[in-house]
Amino acid sequence: MNTKLISFKNVTVSFWQNDFGVHSIKDLMKHRKQPFSNKIILNDVTFDVERGACMAILGRNGSGKSTLLRTIAGLIKPIKGQITINGTFAPILAIGAGVELELSGYENINLLLSLYGRYKRNSNTIQDIIAFSELSHEQLSMPVKRYSSGMVARLAFSISIANDADILIIDEVLAVGDKGFQQKCMDKIFGIKAEGKTILFVSHFTEEVMKICNTALLLDKGNLIDSGTAEEICNKYMRLFP
Ligand SMILES: Nc1ncnc2c1ncn2[C@@H]1O[C@H](COP(=O)(O)OP(=O)(O)OP(=O)(O)O)[C@@H](O)[C@H]1O
Ligand SMILES: [Mg+2]
Repeated sequence: MNTKLISFKNVTVSFWQNDFGVHSIKDLMKHRKQPFSNKIILNDVTFDVERGACMAILGRNGSGKSTLLRTIAGLIKPIKGQITINGTFAPILAIGAGVELELSGYENINLLLSLYGRYKRNSNTIQDIIAFSELSHEQLSMPVKRYSSGMVARLAFSISIANDADILIIDEVLAVGDKGFQQKCMDKIFGIKAEGKTILFVSHFTEEVMKICNTALLLDKGNLIDSGTAEEICNKYMRLFP
């Protein structure tokens, strides 16, 4: 069996950005200069993730962590480099990414379960998701755009763990949950880890990272500046960016 579940080779991701607030043809005519520029968000990133690893991605705000997770999940195509993935994903958890804001909690559960092609929808699974989220019938009936960020995180995390995928992606979900939910998520994450699944974990809380993860990457301004054990990288992160 291939032990490498994810492999990134010299991956570069860029986004077009609107530098002068050009929103119409009139705005465009006012500017002589090119109003859009191509900004490199991930620069020549190379790393591997072994099957069964629990890897953290650390870095300051805007360093490219969520972009990296989205690229791994195939939501963003790199402009350069090679990506190999040998497994299936639970949905991306960029607090709400993957969750449709106009739909209710119930509708999102049904939609996301149907989207995981190989997954069979059944009422037991739906009941498990509802029970784990602890959201009420009233809350699950309203559009997600009216949810608090903690409620969105509850919904997203509960749906993602119901999918029997090889890779679980967790992007800052614990940061917005209340204490009770945080503990419940931690217990669940340890359970998933014990089953031998692979976990990619983004968090700014190094204590949490050291408890959950074995390895880690450190990103800064889109560059992968170091990789190693979770403890080494957490210490370096705290030293470089106190
Ligand atoms: N769709 C997009 N279009 C243009 N720029 C984007 C887009 N998404 C992200 N960016 C930019 O990419 C950079 C990295 O963003 P990203 O969300 O990956 O950072 P992050 O490390 O997850 O930060 P945080 O800790 O705040 O969650 C930022 O400068 C951001 O403005
Ligand atoms: Mg992010």
